Amino acid sequence: MAPPVTRLLVMGAGRMGSALVGGMIAQGADPSGITMVEPDADRRRQVAGELAGVQVVAEPLRAEGAVVAVKPANGPDACRAVAGTGTPRLLSVMAGVTLPMLARWAPGLAVLRAMPNTPALVGAGVTALCGTAEVAEEDLDWAESLLDAVGTTLRLAESAFDAVTGLSGSGPAYIFLVAEAMVEAGVMAGLPRPVSETLTFGTIAGAGRLLVQPGADPASLRADVTSPGGTTAAGLQVLERAAVRAALVDAVAAAAERSRQLGTLAE
Ligand SMILES: NC(=O)c1ccc[n+]([C@@H]2O[C@H](COP(=O)([O-])OP(=O)(O)OC[C@H]3O[C@@H](n4cnc5c(N)ncnc54)[C@H](OP(=O)(O)O)[C@@H]3O)[C@@H](O)[C@H]2O)c1
Repeated sequence: MAPPVTRLLVMGAGRMGSALVGGMIAQGADPSGITMVEPDADRRRQVAGELAGVQVVAEPLRAEGAVVAVKPANGPDACRAVAGTGTPRLLSVMAGVTLPMLARWAPGLAVLRAMPNTPALVGAGVTALCGTAEVAEEDLDWAESLLDAVGTTLRLAESAFDAVTGLSGSGPAYIFLVAEAMVEAGVMAGLPRPVSETLTFGTIAGAGRLLVQPGADPASLRADVTSPGGTTAAGLQVLERAAVRAALVDAVAAAAERSRQLGTLAE
């Protein structure tokens, strides 16, 4: 009897694996073609309940392609298990795991690497995608079609991945820091905390939506709300004096450098 086959295998039914599969189903993918592999029996039951029609099992099976969404420490085992099924291609979303590492753990497979960020958990991620020189255009198309279920995908060289990690990978944390500070600032200015939270979160979400309008540019959007000698100008002057721009440049550079160091340690 031929071994069982699935269309897509997802190693790891954690937050990222479940977000990807949930996004694909929301976009019309057939859940019966998706198999998730998860070692924890309670988690298997929970995810099978949440993602109706998806098989959630303990052992991998051969697929047209596999996504590896386990913690990097479990990466070698998960990649070897995929390779053992005869699945021809593998897309990793593991942070800091490089293409040469994936090629070593899954020899002979077409290997691709993606760096999503946490808004992918709500379908609003930005993800960088790369593959080895041996990867075919159709493998990149396959990976991109999966990742598009959780946001926007950009194809980039792997050499850009440390910068991507410092900018969009860590970026949500920079914005959350701004959010925390703005909430406190609102409270200090006399607003009840829930009011300050609603105003802060809505302001950040709304500004984000303006930024992703076609043709939007942040300098013009800022100029639009800055009347000469007005309230916004007074606030921005304080931020410029505090060198917020320079701090963000340094923050992204430091995070990218840390990503480079961690990648070297992991090799
Ligand atoms: N969360 C994000 O927004 C985000 C963003 C960018 C990149 N990533 C990357 O995505 C990966 C997963 O992150 P996550 O937040 O989804 O982690 P998570 O919630 O811990 O999920 C990982 C899941 O994989 C399971 N697992 C462990 N070893 C396995 C194996 N050999 N085969 C199959 N399943 C296995 C784990 O089970 P046990 O708990 O029983 O071990 C766990 O349920 C990480 O490498 C991370 O770097 C995540």
